[in-house]
Amino acid sequence: MEFQDYELFKTKFYQLSSIDLNLYKERQMKRRITSLVSKYGFTSYCAFLEEIKRNEELYNTFLNYLTINVSEFYRNPNQWEMFATKILPGIAKRKDLANIKIWSSACSTGDEPYTVVMILNEFLPLEKINVLATDIDLEAMRKAQAGIYSSRSLKELPAKYRDKHFVKLNDDLYQVSDKVRKCVTFKQLNLLRDPYPKDVDIIICRNVLIYFTEEAKNNIFMEFNKSLAPNGILFIGSTEQIINYQKYNFKPIETFFYQKIEG
Ligand SMILES: C[S@@+](CC[C@H](N)C(=O)[O-])C[C@H]1O[C@@H](n2cnc3c(N)ncnc32)[C@H](O)[C@@H]1O
Repeated sequence: MEFQDYELFKTKFYQLSSIDLNLYKERQMKRRITSLVSKYGFTSYCAFLEEIKRNEELYNTFLNYLTINVSEFYRNPNQWEMFATKILPGIAKRKDLANIKIWSSACSTGDEPYTVVMILNEFLPLEKINVLATDIDLEAMRKAQAGIYSSRSLKELPAKYRDKHFVKLNDDLYQVSDKVRKCVTFKQLNLLRDPYPKDVDIIICRNVLIYFTEEAKNNIFMEFNKSLAPNGILFIGSTEQIINYQKYNFKPIETFFYQKIEG
């Protein structure tokens, strides 16, 4: 079933949350929202909106559902192998890795920035590592800070990292060590609205661009370019590519990795 008041809902939801649903691919987003609104028994999007204004728990459930937090450690292992064997050693030739700034820009429950820390720790002591991790979803980042994961989230992670950096809590649950957790700074940031950090050496933006319209992605690539330090690198997801990378002053250096060219 589909309701008639989606346009009005988008406007009102923007006023409530500062999330502009116009910048997300419409068909996919509308289908997801409709299914949740129906599941809770509402007969219009705006009736649902009135309820989430009052009901904080439902508001958070909705945000969580909208933002699709699926993640895992070492997701798409080939990409991380490339990161560890080519990208980081390439940067190390021109810069001390202890001074590089890495930003995981849609970090979800933390699996991605913690993976970065574990790989960087092959090059540097943990005390010298600091990764910035941001997401629009505070709830996901709360989980990230607690650092507790089921074995399913760790299934792709090489055993050497799991054995070194996790405490086993029970048969299914693992917690990231305090030392690794201290290496990541979590902050809320909406990629469609907020200012980006500056002088970043590596931006990681995986499995979120797929939800955005072409216009929104266009803007994000331009802002990423501004956010990068000279020769900085953008790392994207395994189903993504930047077709017209020249337009944004990028050049591909490996599959899924683009380097900023000084324009
Ligand atoms: C599928 S997860 C990807 C997590 C991780 N990067 C990975 O590849 O495993 C998508 C994340 O994008 C976040 N997200 C959605 N819209 C966003 C926005 N406008 N700004 C920042 N993060 C956003 C969601 O909250 C969610 O945590």
